[in-house]
Amino acid sequence: MKEALKKAIPLVFQAAAEAAVLLKNDNNALPIGKDEKIALFGRISINYYRSGTGSGGNVNAEYETNVYDGFKKYGYENYDKEVKAVYEEWIKTHPFNKGNGEWASEPWHQEEMKLEEEFVKKSAEASDKALIFIGRTAGEDKDNLDEPGSYRLTYDEKVMVDMVCRNFEHVIVVLNTSNIIDLKWINEAIAHNHIDAVLYCSQCASEGGNALAALLLGKNTPSGHLTDTIAYNISDYPSDNNHGDYIANKFEEDIFVGYRYFETFAKDKVMYPFGYGLSYTQFEVSELSALKISEKERCFKVSANVKNVGNYSGAYVLQVYLNAPCGVVGRPSRELCGFAKTKELKKGDEEKLEVIIDLNKFAAYDDAGKTDNKSAYVLEKGNYVFFAGDDVRSAKKIENDIYVLSDTVVVKQCEEAMALEEHENRIKANYENGEYVLSYEDAPLRTVSLKERIARELPEEIVKVSDKVIKLSDVKEGRASVEEFVAGLTTKQLAVLVRGEGMSSSKATQGNASVFGGVSDDLMALGIPAVCCCDGPNGVNLAKIYYCTQIPVGTALAATFNPELIGKVYEVIAEEMVMKHVDCLLGPGINIHRHPLCGRNFEYYSEDPYLTGKITVAIVKALKSKGVCAVIKHMCANSQERARHTENSIVSERALREIYLKAFEMAVEEGADAIMTSYNKVNGHYTSSSYDLTTKIARHEWNFKGMIMTDWWSRLNDVEEGGTMSFIDLRSMVRSQNDVYMIVNNNAAATNAKGDNLEESLENGKLTKAELQRCAVNIINLVLKLPAMEREIKIPKAVDFATGQVLDAEASILDVRVGETFEKEINDENIVEKALYLEVKEEGIYQISVGAASYCWELAQVLSTLFVNGERAGDIQVNGTNGKTIELNIVKAKLHKGLYELKVEHVRPKIDLKYLRLTRVDF
Ligand code: BGC
Repeated sequence: MKEALKKAIPLVFQAAAEAAVLLKNDNNALPIGKDEKIALFGRISINYYRSGTGSGGNVNAEYETNVYDGFKKYGYENYDKEVKAVYEEWIKTHPFNKGNGEWASEPWHQEEMKLEEEFVKKSAEASDKALIFIGRTAGEDKDNLDEPGSYRLTYDEKVMVDMVCRNFEHVIVVLNTSNIIDLKWINEAIAHNHIDAVLYCSQCASEGGNALAALLLGKNTPSGHLTDTIAYNISDYPSDNNHGDYIANKFEEDIFVGYRYFETFAKDKVMYPFGYGLSYTQFEVSELSALKISEKERCFKVSANVKNVGNYSGAYVLQVYLNAPCGVVGRPSRELCGFAKTKELKKGDEEKLEVIIDLNKFAAYDDAGKTDNKSAYVLEKGNYVFFAGDDVRSAKKIENDIYVLSDTVVVKQCEEAMALEEHENRIKANYENGEYVLSYEDAPLRTVSLKERIARELPEEIVKVSDKVIKLSDVKEGRASVEEFVAGLTTKQLAVLVRGEGMSSSKATQGNASVFGGVSDDLMALGIPAVCCCDGPNGVNLAKIYYCTQIPVGTALAATFNPELIGKVYEVIAEEMVMKHVDCLLGPGINIHRHPLCGRNFEYYSEDPYLTGKITVAIVKALKSKGVCAVIKHMCANSQERARHTENSIVSERALREIYLKAFEMAVEEGADAIMTSYNKVNGHYTSSSYDLTTKIARHEWNFKGMIMTDWWSRLNDVEEGGTMSFIDLRSMVRSQNDVYMIVNNNAAATNAKGDNLEESLENGKLTKAELQRCAVNIINLVLKLPAMEREIKIPKAVDFATGQVLDAEASILDVRVGETFEKEINDENIVEKALYLEVKEEGIYQISVGAASYCWELAQVLSTLFVNGERAGDIQVNGTNGKTIELNIVKAKLHKGLYELKVEHVRPKIDLKYLRLTRVDF
């Protein structure tokens, strides 16, 4: 094991073990006794799913384990070897289907082996218990579907369940699934009488198989809890009516997401409640109390004594829920407001747990002014009651302290932001005669003019006061301020600074997702390093270039209810980042599980914003403690993968603040330095160019001082008006104070190869230099904190091309001074089929650029190669440009006095070359 950090292994194992949620354990079917004989069915017993797919999964781990590897580790051999052998043989002819290698092509499930009754019967005669493995994957760019093979069992899986249950008295189900799936079948006919235990083990990276074996054999005791409600039917979820629409996703359920809806209005629809999770052992919870520790700050302490009174070691999670008065704004009957986990308690051991609750953080946002406090966080008058226990449903009222507010209080006054632009209904709770009643109301509409707000809040230009060149090291060493440094940047340099390049930029560790900062030679010359970003939520993702530590998927991490442990896991990830010269990790993904079919749920944590926030804070701090940075993503309301680049999430301001932005806010409060916006629109505005989101809420309200970036190849629309989408409206991005566009092609930031509208907008007054400077300050502030500052900046050296032979061909004369440019129109024939000859009059360093166009589609990878005197000089790489000519820097060349031959070879679909430009730079 050369690359992945060995010290990560026990932590990944621990996280995997604590992530598993035991949903059912009748007849103490688990753990399996060492003398008990078992048989394992389902190919997933061999083809364990380590993670989902896409940027939030697929870390290039050095090894993987399945449950049999785990059994071997623990010396357990009492499984049916014949069954294993039959599956192994069958898999040889039915290999794991990875799709056709294209993005999002891996299927959600793998073909299952068809079982013969005789085979199962024979195994049942020799074994005491059967294990059935069900696996599912999910991933970016593709939602799951309410269909067999995705949310539902396939026909073959059903046959397997029926046949195994018919033949075995005791059956244990293992769910190796990324998202929650339909589980109603567990209660159906034959299954009901035979399935004793269900272990939801999620997808837990390289150590997943070992951890699973440890849990099954009772070496470890499950202590994970559901981070989502499992309802009987997909149609029971309140978002189901609207999830998955190609155009508009209406968040009609408003703040009533997950258990907030089920516990308030539809308890009977719940199969397993939020927070649910059994243990092998039993705990006695005593001395449960709630104490007010500060009236002024409205702070409470809930404490309890937890004793392990069962027969196994185990850890207990105390969950505390708030029941706030429903009031006039309407609130759910339960909101998770704190939790604490014991250490592993041995038989008879006890531990006192304490949970501190700051009630102000659980105020409701009155977006409609119902309490006469529009756009404010309020605690309405009434009784505030705490419930504590094992899950949201069984949590008991803490009798000894009820907090009574005699008057409604404003906790924080804000400004209206991101409100709806068209009429929409939303769910509202009323409390009548001791019961919650569901009704609908109109969500409030935007009353603020974005145009006027932006104009009013335009920044002042930072004026340069001295001609002295300030380098970034001067700022780092305290000789100049960030503002003085930024004042020294030209408008061109400022425009280049807001363009990130990728993927796999040669300016940083191979396999990266992007670089930003020092993306041009002159920015590098000022001491700005190229900051290396890589994915993400599943560990350091450097494509297939390096082995990296893989960690359990997001939902699994959250299911541990153990932020401290997750912090430790991420400290190791941070060390790995430092080792591999990665500065920013594109994660964690902290979107809310709004609907079980969102393809990326596995990367995210929960339907609950507080749990999501607590885990996020632990990660942010862990990375920060080692000097690297988490990029929390995707802000915000990105709850489906279908049409993720274009879909409009229609969400009330209240739901945004209380549910979809909450975890971001918590992380910012605790020091998050970077945020990635999402692909979707919110109320008509792409989040990549949403002033209210990235300036009003994040910076003005939360006081966020860090950097914000777009998601990769994001779309934007007009920052003032919304409207039609664009790929090049970086003016709107900068004006909204989203600082960096991810991504333009490699080596394309300096030439504006994407053809964005920054320079043009500065010229026509639609953007001010001051706004670009504002983004630059945000970027530089972050760069200064990162390890990139300590790395040597390697400004690409000019390639020394020797002169060629004098040929019988017509040559153009290259005779320019430093700073001057030579330009020659070209067309394909004269540089592809023949060649172009240059006679250099004076030795110097020349930046060679080309003007290129392509009619291929916008994300097509078009590639040609430039040769100078037969030597490969550089790639000409573009996406489809819709016929528009863009300029690309190809190579910096040292050219001597003499003759040069330039020739191009087309590699992948054709580029139209329009002109050749040589700029004398001499550095
Ligand atoms: C994803 C991001 C990811 C980025 C870079 C995008 O497609 O949405 O989450 O960080 O790619 O890989």
